[in-house]
Amino acid sequence: MAKTILVTGGAGYIGSHTVLQLLLGGFSTVVVDNLDNSSEIAIDRVRELAGDFGRNLSFHKIDLRDKPALEKLFSATKFDAVIHFAGLKAVGESVQKPLLYYNNNIVGTITLLEVMAAHGCKKIVFSSSATVYGWPKVVPCTEEFPLVAANPYGRTKLYIEEICRDIYRSDSEWKVILLRYFNPVGAHHSGYIGEDPHGIPNNLMPFVQQVAVGRRPALTVFGNDYNTKDGTGVRDYVHVDDLAHGHIAALNKLEEANIGCEVYNLGTGKGTSVLEMVAAFEKASGKKIPLVIAGRRPGDAEVVYASTDKAERELNWKAKYNIDDMCRDQWNWASKNPYGYGPQDNSS
Ligand code: NAD
Ligand code: WQD
Repeated sequence: MAKTILVTGGAGYIGSHTVLQLLLGGFSTVVVDNLDNSSEIAIDRVRELAGDFGRNLSFHKIDLRDKPALEKLFSATKFDAVIHFAGLKAVGESVQKPLLYYNNNIVGTITLLEVMAAHGCKKIVFSSSATVYGWPKVVPCTEEFPLVAANPYGRTKLYIEEICRDIYRSDSEWKVILLRYFNPVGAHHSGYIGEDPHGIPNNLMPFVQQVAVGRRPALTVFGNDYNTKDGTGVRDYVHVDDLAHGHIAALNKLEEANIGCEVYNLGTGKGTSVLEMVAAFEKASGKKIPLVIAGRRPGDAEVVYASTDKAERELNWKAKYNIDDMCRDQWNWASKNPYGYGPQDNSS
C-alpha cells in the first residue's frame, strides 16, 4: 500500500518540489502550511504536474503551532513519516524579530513532535541548513564540523537539531534524519513551480531573477575583497530538484533498522562565486545583470561548500545538475512567471 507522508511547509519553495517528486514516486502526500511565505497556487500546480498522481495530494491550511488542528489531522490519517520544512528563514528578519523566529520555528517543531509522538509516528526528516557551520575554517564542510549559529535563524536550526538528538536519546523508537541544505536554487524544468519569496529577496538567485525580469534595477554584490578567485563569496549552489530527490533518499533510509538520529549534507561539493553565478545566469537568460559593488554583508562567510561523501555513501544520493542547469531552470521559471505566483505587485 502507498505510504502516506505529512509534509509541513509543502507549499513553499523546497517543499513544493519535494511534494511533486513524492507524488510521482507513488507516495500519498498531505501538506500542511500556513501560507505565510507561499501560495496555494503552488499546490494546485504541483497537483497538475503530477497528473493522475495528483489525486494523492491533500492540502490543509494549518499553522504548526495550532495543536488541536494538528491533533485532528493525525487522528484522521495515519502517517508513515513526516518531512518537516515549515519555518521562517530570513536571516535579517530573525535578527530584528528573534521571538517570532523562536516561536514559529521552535514552538512549531515541538508541537509537531509532541503530536507525532502521541500518535506513534516517530519518523521525521528535518530541514536543517549549512548555516550551522557558521564561518568554516576549512572546506569542504563535513557533518562532524563544530556547530555554531550566527543569528537567531541559525540558532533555531541548531536548537531543533539538538531537540531531535535528545528525543532519540530519550526514546530509541525515533528515527530522525537531519538534512543540511547548502544553497538551493533553480526550479522544476517545467517552469511551472519555483521560488517566490514574499518581499525583497534575501538570497542571491531570487534577487538576480528579479533584476533579470526588470523588477529591480541592479544586483548589489556584497563584497569583492574576499580571499577567493574573484573576490566575491563562494557557495555551494544545489538544484532544488536534486534536493527533492535527496528527501526521497532520506525517506528510504528511514526504513532501515537502527537509523537513530543521523545528519547529512545536501550540496554538490563545488564552490561557485557570486560573479560566476551571475555570468552563468546571464548566459542562460541572455539578460545583462547590472551590478553595484558594495561592502561585505555582516555575518557572511567567505567560502562554504559541502563534503558530499556521507550522503553519497549512506543515502546513495548525489546531485546531478550543474550551475548551467540551475540557471537555465531558474530563468525558465522567472521568464514564465515574472511575478511568481501572484499578480504584479509593485509594493514588494
Ligand atoms: P519557504 O519559505 O519557501 O517554505 C517554508 C514554508 O513553511 C512556507 O510555505 C511557509 O508558509 C511555511 N511555514 C512557515 N511557518 C509555518 C508554520 N508555523 N506553520 C505552517 N507553515 C509554516 O522556504 P524554503 O526555502 O522552501 O525552506 C524550507 C525549509 O528549508 C525551511 O525550514 C528553511 O529554513 C530550510 N532551508 C532553506 C534554505 C534555503 O536557502 N531556501 C537553506 C537551508 C535550509
Ligand atoms: C550567497 C552569496 C552573498 C545576495 C543564506 C542563509 C543560510 C541558508 C542559505 C537557510 C553570498 C551574496 C547575496 C545579494 C550578494 N538559508 N549575495 N547579493 O548567505 O550563503 O546563506 O541562504 O538556511 O542560512 O544565511 O546565501 O543567497 O544570501 O548569498 O552578493 O543580494 O551571494 O554575500 O556570498 P547564504 P545567499
